[in-house]
Amino acid sequence: MSELKSGLSVSKYFGQRLIELIELPTGVRVLDVGFGLGSSLFPAAEIVGSQGRVIGIDIDEERVQKTVAAIAEREIKNAQVFQMDVLEMSLEDDFFDFMLGGFVVPYLFKPDTQVIAPEITRVLKRGGRIGFTTWDYIEDDDWMIAALKEELGSEIKGRNLSIYTSYPVQELEVSFSEAGFADVMHLREVAEFVYPDMEKWWAAMQYQSWISCYKDIEARGPGELERFKEATYQKLLGPEADELRFKVSVDFFFGTYQE
Ligand SMILES: C[S@@+](CC[C@H](N)C(=O)[O-])C[C@H]1O[C@@H](n2cnc3c(N)ncnc32)[C@H](O)[C@@H]1O
Repeated sequence: MSELKSGLSVSKYFGQRLIELIELPTGVRVLDVGFGLGSSLFPAAEIVGSQGRVIGIDIDEERVQKTVAAIAEREIKNAQVFQMDVLEMSLEDDFFDFMLGGFVVPYLFKPDTQVIAPEITRVLKRGGRIGFTTWDYIEDDDWMIAALKEELGSEIKGRNLSIYTSYPVQELEVSFSEAGFADVMHLREVAEFVYPDMEKWWAAMQYQSWISCYKDIEARGPGELERFKEATYQKLLGPEADELRFKVSVDFFFGTYQE
């Protein structure tokens, strides 16, 4: 996987930043919606301490099972995770002091609307704080789409190749304000990550929308995909560098539930 010079993966880095920027105190109740593999959940559990509590929910059974095992293995006593849909949570009303959501913005709206689902505010206390992240820009995405377009030409037509959706900041601010959040604040951070070698880079390039293109390249003949992979990597690396660096820009949103 890609890592910062400090050794953190993209999701761990921004999960940790979310916790730092929202300034979690000790002793509070935190809900992490769509916790994934716990990039915010684990640092949150450490900060809230034995008097606090962290609950994670995620719709994906495998992620929940992996995280249950990781919590047990690390002997963490103040965190629990459950398989749940964020639009239908079996959690008490007005229970949480903080809500975190790392890269889950598409799931927070009432289906087919720009309205934040009532479930989000139902479980938060008045005065409770939210913190969400969403992708602004992932440099890899531009790189790979350009490389695939060059390789496949007109065959690429009509396919949506982007691996992320970028949300207009102002629209998100309005959605949160309309849901009853005050002092909605936006912050953008850019960080640079590193792929230390070609195999680690290629392992990270396995997104569904790209894999279908790789299959088309592979179908052209023996060795074709390997040629594409090596040529693309060398081109991105350039003649001088010995490791591939890429930038990721992330939007953070914070707000206080007042209604
Ligand atoms: C992009 S991942 C982010 C994971 C983690 N928050 C992080 O920052 O690394 C999005 C997560 O949301 C979960 N998810 C998707 N739809 C959901 C829903 N309706 N309810 C709860 N979780 C959902 C996915 O299973 C996935 O783990």
